[in-house]
Amino acid sequence: MSALSESALAQLFTNARTHNAWLETPVSDDTLHRLYELVKWGPTAANTCPVRLVFVKSAEAKARLKPCLSAGNQDKSMIAPATVILAWDNEFYEYMPKLFPHNPDARSWYVGKEKSIYENAFRNSSLQGGYFILAARALGLDCGPMSGFNATKLNAEFFPDGKWQANFLCNIGYGNHAELFPRSPRLDFDEASKSI
Ligand SMILES: Cc1cc2nc3c(=O)[nH]c(=O)nc-3n(C[C@H](O)[C@H](O)[C@H](O)COP(=O)(O)O)c2cc1C
Repeated sequence: MSALSESALAQLFTNARTHNAWLETPVSDDTLHRLYELVKWGPTAANTCPVRLVFVKSAEAKARLKPCLSAGNQDKSMIAPATVILAWDNEFYEYMPKLFPHNPDARSWYVGKEKSIYENAFRNSSLQGGYFILAARALGLDCGPMSGFNATKLNAEFFPDGKWQANFLCNIGYGNHAELFPRSPRLDFDEASKSI
């Protein structure tokens, strides 16, 4: 495999920003499907694939979402073409026969084991959330991830049976690049890593 071009790396990482202001350009259902078709290939433990996506697009669904959001996240999420609820499935193990067909024991690693279910679902749906952001950028979309929301309220509103549970939210669309504030620095290699 060869390294991506500098312009591809810029689109995914070095020039890619978190967006708070959105153009009116809609995101088509076809693009949402293409997005999922990339996200699904990112690796997860035992191929459990616990992330579940809810694309909140309609005015009615946005109105249900609004009171679940922290004040600073409300207006921008109402304007974004879609606010995605990145959730996990507390019963992800039911898909193990499909997702891990070479090991018929895989479902039993999780079923009835609350701690293992939570750890696997949270860790791997978070990873899939990262894949989601990068896949969206690869398709030319912009992202505005958010953890500022009332999870109890949102879960009660969108997932009343408790099977799915919100991890974080992400506005997607085409960002207004004119409204970006200066980018914050990142840690240097020596601050964030060591070789041992
Ligand atoms: C999981 C996650 C949760 C975040 N939550 C919020 C939020 O609730 N509200 C908000 O305005 N920004 C939120 N952010 C945006 C971050 O502050 C932003 O991504 C970070 O400062 C990097 O900005 P940059 O990508 O423009 O460099 C969140 C980002 C992530 C990844």
